[in-house]
Amino acid sequence: MLDHATRDRAELAIDCYLSAREETLPDDANAKIGDGDYAAIGAEFLRLMVDLGGLDPDASVLDIGCGLGRLAQPLKYYLGPDASYFGFDVVRENVEWCLQNIRDERERFGFFHVDVRHPLYNPGGRIGAEDLTLPIADETFDFVLMVSVFTHLSAAVTERYLAEVSRILVPGGRLFASFFVIDERTRPLAGVNHRYPFDLGAPGPVYTPPQDTGFAAAAVEEDWLLDCALRRSGYALVNRAEGHWPYANPAPGTPFQDILVFEK
Ligand SMILES: C[S@@+](CC[C@H](N)C(=O)[O-])C[C@H]1O[C@@H](n2cnc3c(N)ncnc32)[C@H](O)[C@@H]1O
Repeated sequence: MLDHATRDRAELAIDCYLSAREETLPDDANAKIGDGDYAAIGAEFLRLMVDLGGLDPDASVLDIGCGLGRLAQPLKYYLGPDASYFGFDVVRENVEWCLQNIRDERERFGFFHVDVRHPLYNPGGRIGAEDLTLPIADETFDFVLMVSVFTHLSAAVTERYLAEVSRILVPGGRLFASFFVIDERTRPLAGVNHRYPFDLGAPGPVYTPPQDTGFAAAAVEEDWLLDCALRRSGYALVNRAEGHWPYANPAPGTPFQDILVFEK
């Protein structure tokens, strides 16, 4: 159960971030990380990481697919002096932007590039994502973020990342990740979704809209995902929030994508 002090700390961090922010995003930021208000989304995710994920202010955090540091920004104000944050991305310019624009005088933050291939984001990458071994030792991190990343991955890559994250998490560590989950609730709506009309007639367990060969958006079958995470990678599912992505009129206060929190 989350204590009031931790919640208050997150709200204070959000206030500090929103009043201090001074970054100028690249012109093509929407193409790189999606549209929407960069700072508001970052703030919303800090609340979710704390409320749903139980993120401890002293945690060591790895942000996989960190993009333009949207999640790092509020974390700078939330994480304590003994915490650490590393973000990596497959797009070199994203990492360079983060290194130039997200500075932490206490030097708790680091960003690095991993040249993993992705058909849309990094088609010329040297390393295939299906057999990637992350350049990180076993049991290194307390908390791993993959926000809006599995929503761009094939089934084989999803399976690989779930296993790799399990390897680098400490026992009891958590993976906080977002998905478009195809389950009883979303199945009737997913194919007619105004934004991403997922082709559920195609062979699963991962579906994209028709003609989307670059994994611009990918949804995943719940049964397959849970089997992969719980049985094959050894996680427990400890929390879950339904996203409003299938609905034209979203309920206020709900995240856009489905959030799942797995514990090793
Ligand atoms: C929609 S953006 C989300 C960025 C960030 N997580 C956020 O929420 O602001 C997806 C990010 O995933 C990165 N990405 C794509 N394939 C990846 C992979 N195999 N490993 C790590 N990151 C990847 C992309 O380069 C891109 O920055």
